[in-house]
Amino acid sequence: MDLYEYQGRDMFERHGLPVLAGGVATTPEEARAIAERLGGRVVVKAQVKVGGRGKAGGVKLAEGADETVARATDILGMDIKGHTVHKVMITVTADIAEEYYLSYLLDRANRTFLCIASVAGGMDIEQVAAETPDRVAKIAIDPIAGVDEAKAREIVTAARFPAEVADQVADIAIKLWQTFVAEDATLVEVNPLAKTASGQVLCLDAKVTLDGNAAFRHPDHEALVDQASVDPLEQRAKEKDLNYVKLDGEVGIIGNGAGLVMSTLDVVAYAGEAHSGVKPANFLDIGGGASAAVMANGLEIVLSDPSVKSVFVNVFGGITACDEVANGIIQALALLEQRGETVTKPLVVRLDGNNAEAGRAILNDAANPLVERVDTMDGAAERAAELAAAGLSRPEGQ
Ligand SMILES: Nc1ncnc2c1ncn2[C@@H]1O[C@H](COP(=O)(O)OP(=O)(O)O)[C@@H](O)[C@H]1O
Ligand SMILES: [Mg+2]
Repeated sequence: MDLYEYQGRDMFERHGLPVLAGGVATTPEEARAIAERLGGRVVVKAQVKVGGRGKAGGVKLAEGADETVARATDILGMDIKGHTVHKVMITVTADIAEEYYLSYLLDRANRTFLCIASVAGGMDIEQVAAETPDRVAKIAIDPIAGVDEAKAREIVTAARFPAEVADQVADIAIKLWQTFVAEDATLVEVNPLAKTASGQVLCLDAKVTLDGNAAFRHPDHEALVDQASVDPLEQRAKEKDLNYVKLDGEVGIIGNGAGLVMSTLDVVAYAGEAHSGVKPANFLDIGGGASAAVMANGLEIVLSDPSVKSVFVNVFGGITACDEVANGIIQALALLEQRGETVTKPLVVRLDGNNAEAGRAILNDAANPLVERVDTMDGAAERAAELAAAGLSRPEGQ
């Protein structure tokens, strides 16, 4: 999960990192109240989970409360790289003399953690990294040893931080690592890490990504979830313990096993090219032991997506045999009927693997007009795409 800058800033503050006073506002009037509390010149910053806000016009200086209201009015509702601004952060203005860069991240390719540090930070860091890579130091961090005083000094030396800020940067490097570990982050980035005219080093931006796999040991992270941006279908799926990701196509997908579902998305996208460009509407892995109840929950979620015009159930029988899955599908349809959610969208079912024949026979016997059996994955994808394309051209509700 990516955090907003204001959430990252608060997290940094809790871990003793030097940040500026500020507050977050959703309306110009709230922005005014914060500006009045802070006093003097402030910075109004768009809160969107994307970099390059400064260059996009999402970071503006404001002299006093009235100007803050004007800048907040400009920035709220702005679109930055496809993200609408719903919140602004108002902070004290720093008198910046120099801009540095400091981050820790999980370096998957090298199976380690990495510190990236540079004295050429600021809004052009990507360009610096591309054109003058020697100005960007990369220091591997041993996960057990972490960043102690000696490692922090190594970072300061490697990035050639000026002597007058060495102590402050070393202290920040240690605390930023402690934040990274304590919060189970996969990225903590400070850009700019700024030196002010008076020689103080401050974290002026905060980019934090938390590891969702560690959420169970951070009950406080739940409060950081941006409920407004959570997809309602994904939320409902999560409540039912389903591995569901909403996509923007028309073919609902249900499969068992993440790998199979991923390749199902590929074959459906490919088949869709010849059928009005229909695409998969979701990822849904109902797992190994897919019972009728799980299948019903899965179908219910997928079918309640108004963009879905057909559903492709792709099951490879393993531990759960195909006859159980076939019974599951039939029972699931009956269950939905009982819940008053009669299914009207066509289902294409492909069963293969353990007890495939028995499973197919069960579907044949049930003879549900909405359920169509296709025994190959490519064939089923093709048929599901075709049905979705036909559904697209039908008016809603027919
Ligand atoms: N509190 C502040 N005081 C003065 N300048 C700031 C402040 N916060 C940001 N800036 C300036 O705005 C630039 C962009 O802000 P930043 O928060 O880094 O957003 P982004 O990285 O999304 O562009 C910074 O590089 C810095 O020069
Ligand atoms: Mg920045």
